[in-house]
Amino acid sequence: MRMPLFRGVKRWGKLISALLLSSFLLAACGENSPSVLNPAGPVADRERILFWFILIVATIVFVAVEGMLIYSIIRYRERPNSPTPRQIHGNNTIEVIWTVAPSIFLFAVLIGTIYTMVNLAQPKTPADVEVKAVGHQWWWEFDYVTQNGIVTADSLYVPTGAVVQVDLVSNNVIHSFWVPELTGKTDVIPGHNNHLWFTADHTGTYRGECAEYCGDQHAHMDFNVVAYDPNTFQTWVHMAQANAATPAAGSLEQQGAKLFAGSGGCTGCHGIVGVNLTSYADTRAAGLVGPNLTHFGSRRLIAGGVLSWDPTSCAIVNGQLVNKNNCGLYKWLQDPQGFKPGNDMIIGQLTDTQITQLIAYLESLQ
Ligand code: CUA
Repeated sequence: MRMPLFRGVKRWGKLISALLLSSFLLAACGENSPSVLNPAGPVADRERILFWFILIVATIVFVAVEGMLIYSIIRYRERPNSPTPRQIHGNNTIEVIWTVAPSIFLFAVLIGTIYTMVNLAQPKTPADVEVKAVGHQWWWEFDYVTQNGIVTADSLYVPTGAVVQVDLVSNNVIHSFWVPELTGKTDVIPGHNNHLWFTADHTGTYRGECAEYCGDQHAHMDFNVVAYDPNTFQTWVHMAQANAATPAAGSLEQQGAKLFAGSGGCTGCHGIVGVNLTSYADTRAAGLVGPNLTHFGSRRLIAGGVLSWDPTSCAIVNGQLVNKNNCGLYKWLQDPQGFKPGNDMIIGQLTDTQITQLIAYLESLQ
């Protein structure tokens, strides 16, 4: 009886076409996504080299094994009137080859991996910047150990060329810190403080994300690493160490400040140095569940990247937001639970006037 070798080829063809099509569609998702293949620092560069090495080894094995398999299926398929093949059992030479060959390949991968791990375990020079990255549900807080203890959220500012040591802290669930263009993933484990380091070679904004499922809003736990040239970084440090700006009397900003710090206002959860905190080291900060907003006006992400914040799309003319539907901060203050269900920001409904005052104030916190 003839074996129907090509039965089902059509069905497989359809399946493979569907897979190819979906991979093209998914590839389109990557337009604004960072890639481990575009490293912007020495750590990510070494990891990229390891990635290519393992991919090449795996490809050689895949092509060799599948090639022999496909060759055998076609060459030795059953034909009409073909005799029963010779029945053989055991072949020492082949068995030794298929045990030794994979061992050599796996050993090569092991050596490459260990070499990379040892090389990246410690930076060659002491850290220039040390920062604690605290994983909250669901946003990242950055507490500088150096730079006089500046505290920020969603954006981590670093100087180019500097060794940045990141101490990973969580007091809730396991998160994972990942900046594809700068450094691989490291778990952020409650009760076990991991560390990593990276260096950014070029100025720019690098997207980071949480790479370990940590609850409903895991996908909305993004952050930015903003790499400044060393001079700009020093300017940023001076700016960030200063107390928050005090708005002028009678201004829209001042009305927002009153609302912010009033009873039942935002200071129940958010700290601002110069308003409800005397310094970044103020112990009262420990009791506040929301991000420190001292220099919020200079940041560009809101709420773990669920919305972006761009002052030009939140322009206020004659006390009115001119394009509120394009203003990420308006949308957030209007309905924080709608944009990020389950997050800690549970507030009463604010009026458009109140939101406008708050936006004016928050924007003034440069
Ligand atoms: Cu934090 Cu996923």
